[in-house]
Amino acid sequence: MSNSTFGRIVHYSKKYWGRIAISTLASVAVGTMDGGFAYMVEPLLRKTFATNDKTIFTLLPIGVLALFAVRAISRFLNDYFIRTAGELAVQDIRNDLYRNSMHLGLRFYHQHPTGSLMSRVLSDVAVMQSGIGNVVTSVCRDGFSAISLLVVIFYRSWELALITFVVIPLTIYSAQKIGKRIKRLSGQSQEKIGDVAAILQETYTGIKVVKAFVLEDWVIQRFRTTTNAYYNFVRKAIKYNSISAPVIEMITSIGIAGVIWVGGSMVMRGELTSAEFFSFLTAMVLVYKPVKSLNNSYNIIQTSIGAAVRVFEIIDEKPELTNAENAVSIERAAGDVEFRDVSFAYDGEKVLNNINLSASRGEIIALVGPSGGGKSTLVSLIPRFYDVTSGVVLVDGTDIRSLRMADLMRQVALVDQETMLFNDTIANNIRYGNFSASDSEVEAAAKAAFAHDFILEMPEGYSTNIGDRGVRLSGGQRQRICIARALIKDAPILIMDEATSALDTESEQMVQKALDNLMANRTTFVIAHRLSTILHADKILVLEDGRIVESGSHSELLKSSGLYSRLHSLQFSNSGTAETRQES
Ligand SMILES: Nc1ncnc2c1ncn2[C@@H]1O[C@H](COP(=O)(O)OP(=O)(O)OP(=O)(O)O)[C@@H](O)[C@H]1O
Ligand SMILES: [Mg+2]
Repeated sequence: MSNSTFGRIVHYSKKYWGRIAISTLASVAVGTMDGGFAYMVEPLLRKTFATNDKTIFTLLPIGVLALFAVRAISRFLNDYFIRTAGELAVQDIRNDLYRNSMHLGLRFYHQHPTGSLMSRVLSDVAVMQSGIGNVVTSVCRDGFSAISLLVVIFYRSWELALITFVVIPLTIYSAQKIGKRIKRLSGQSQEKIGDVAAILQETYTGIKVVKAFVLEDWVIQRFRTTTNAYYNFVRKAIKYNSISAPVIEMITSIGIAGVIWVGGSMVMRGELTSAEFFSFLTAMVLVYKPVKSLNNSYNIIQTSIGAAVRVFEIIDEKPELTNAENAVSIERAAGDVEFRDVSFAYDGEKVLNNINLSASRGEIIALVGPSGGGKSTLVSLIPRFYDVTSGVVLVDGTDIRSLRMADLMRQVALVDQETMLFNDTIANNIRYGNFSASDSEVEAAAKAAFAHDFILEMPEGYSTNIGDRGVRLSGGQRQRICIARALIKDAPILIMDEATSALDTESEQMVQKALDNLMANRTTFVIAHRLSTILHADKILVLEDGRIVESGSHSELLKSSGLYSRLHSLQFSNSGTAETRQES
């Protein structure tokens, strides 16, 4: 798994090969210079001390300056280009992650808390980013440094080099062991960060409930427990990270001690000049740093791969619903909707049972019934938020599963129970229903939804930004903007799920009047608890426990004295008292 993950990261980097090539060349320059420097120690010592050559003392400082200037420029090129390449690749990954998640079905979102998804897009990708960016820089540079220094080591004395080589496998072995632990721990700690994000998301968006129920202390405690759980995994990761360097140092020190011991006696026996020995020793001391940081990079790579696995999990997640192979395109449907023997289960338990209904263009179908009866579920099958478990849903006589999904979505305008507004201006929020709508069309839709007047009272009218989740609007105002957004979409099928529940009786009646005109050429599904909303529906379906228990017009249903007439008489007495209270 980790290999293929690594391969995929490489795949994403391919696009930026130009930057990577420049950076690699620069790192070769830096690396070979390290080796060159260690090599130079020998002639330097030999010449300066043996021949007492004066010119070398004037040339040396200039040489050193020149060498380090070239090294500095190379380092910059190395760093800059590889990091930007890494950022660009990670940006592509993040965009792919987001794009794929937008195509996943609602079921996926019910199963994954928003916070944990956000932490994948932000935190996991960031871990990948920092890991890959830092690592690739050092892997090339340190790799070449190590190689060039090893060349010097071998060139000076292969016997001494062998001692070094007994030590290197030991360091690699221990680095690998530690790296594996770190990878596992980092995966776990990233999951904990997901939990932290989930709490943040929940409590920041639900701050009102937190305050109203005085849950502050309780959520603070829960947050502390979660951050502490995160710390516990991070602590272990830090432990292994910190152990790693000392272990490597200890092992290399054995090598250095051995080299000094053996090398010293070789110099005494005259098998090696002292200048050669110092050159060797310089290379050996210098090689220690790149090897250590390569080892460190290995650990960081493990961490990044842990995060990458979680990121690719979402990139690979297949949408539950897809276009059929020969999906049919439609421009604009007439708007006939039919349910044939439809049953549906979210998971396991059936929520809808053998639903049969047909609605033709221009009709208003009202769905009523007790909470949890399946009204929202039923209408969510029309735009194919979910596929039926059995039976078939047809639009204009065609099974919706054989239509192109985007085309089907275009036929349906939805005003949901939840009034979702974007962090944008009011005009744009309405225009999300139809991006090509003109200003006057936006205004017309707002007027039809009885939103025009209050919008004009806003500080900047239609250009007012309503901010995150539209905090500056009342529930009823938000609903009216959502209605305007649905109206401007001008779709042949209109679904209103509790769309007028936050409106007062008067504005509800006004919106209703406006809708009456607009409903003329479309099929409308209305879900409402307030029965007054649906008096004029062509057909009323009473849904209880996922079954249609009654259907007919208002007057027919009243006569049959079933569930509908019971609900109606209950509400009639309730609204009666409410109205008397208002009048008094
Ligand atoms: N995403 C979901 N996953 C699993 N079960 C769900 C999901 N959404 C709804 N249900 C279940 O399906 C049943 C019908 O829910 P639905 O939302 O369709 O009822 P409703 O008639 O719209 O109720 P209300 O009038 O309260 O809006 C309920 O028992 C509910 O628990
Ligand atoms: Mg509902």
